[in-house]
Amino acid sequence: MLEGMRTILGLIASPRRLGNCEIIVKEIARNIPEPHELKMIRLHSKNIRPCRACYACLEKGDCTLDDDFRFIADQMAAADGLIIASPCYIFGLSGILKVFIDRCMQMFSRAEALLDKPALNVVTAGLRGESGYTELALNNFTMVLGLKLQESAVFYGALPGDALWKNEEQKNLARYLGTRMFSLEPRKYEKWRCPLCGSDAIQLLGGNRVQCMACRNYGTISLKDGDVSLDIALKPENILFTAEQRKHHHQWLQNEKNVFLQTHREISGFQQGYKDEGTWL
Ligand SMILES: Cc1cc2nc3c(=O)[nH]c(=O)nc-3n(C[C@H](O)[C@H](O)[C@H](O)COP(=O)(O)O)c2cc1C
Repeated sequence: MLEGMRTILGLIASPRRLGNCEIIVKEIARNIPEPHELKMIRLHSKNIRPCRACYACLEKGDCTLDDDFRFIADQMAAADGLIIASPCYIFGLSGILKVFIDRCMQMFSRAEALLDKPALNVVTAGLRGESGYTELALNNFTMVLGLKLQESAVFYGALPGDALWKNEEQKNLARYLGTRMFSLEPRKYEKWRCPLCGSDAIQLLGGNRVQCMACRNYGTISLKDGDVSLDIALKPENILFTAEQRKHHHQWLQNEKNVFLQTHREISGFQQGYKDEGTWL
């Protein structure tokens, strides 16, 4: 690889070859001004087994499952920038990406390798207004990993490839995302987005209180000059917003495993009371 050349890793969570996720990732990469090479991983063509919730990764830093997860994690750690693309399936992420995300509990032990690595999130959906919580889930994921989310966007197209076919508006959006990959300009948010993370998923808590569904910080909503405005502050007990908070949460999880080891005999006796009920099919 040429000196100064950066590596972009595209994680494609769609099974469709030359589908919308794939061509959008390629269009974005074409428009990254810095010299780079694009590598891609289609999650569907990898062996990714579901998390078994054994928490071995919290102790040993590694997963006991032998599959392609580690290869993908290594590629993510080695890349200079990530583009993560998922189609919307029934208002949420495609299942394979969720399986992959659950396995990322083990990424706590490689937090430094991903910290502040620039990332772009892409969602594709068939119908405008019908993408549900897909973008929110994807943005949550990048936050958990400690990536620097440079931009995130939803593209619409029902047929494979038609999101950019004769669609200058969405092509321009892909081009814009390309320019954002390594940009040092901070993301610009509209006033109705969370001022801390840019999310548009805001939960109303009653009165003027709100919680951002992406970064999970609390604040208030108000009307200023006829426009909605959000005032949201970082909560000290947030588990994943800053590197320090993620480290603290990792330690808490590790300690929970110890609590389990100390109490599991007692809990096990309680569990046995449910053992013989119902019929497994
Ligand atoms: C199982 C399945 C569920 C889907 N659910 C939704 C949905 O809830 N909302 C939506 O807008 N589009 C939905 N779609 C459409 C896809 O999100 C859309 O076609 C997208 O562009 C596919 O991207 P791809 O070509 O990269 O696979 C669904 C498609 C499939 C196959």
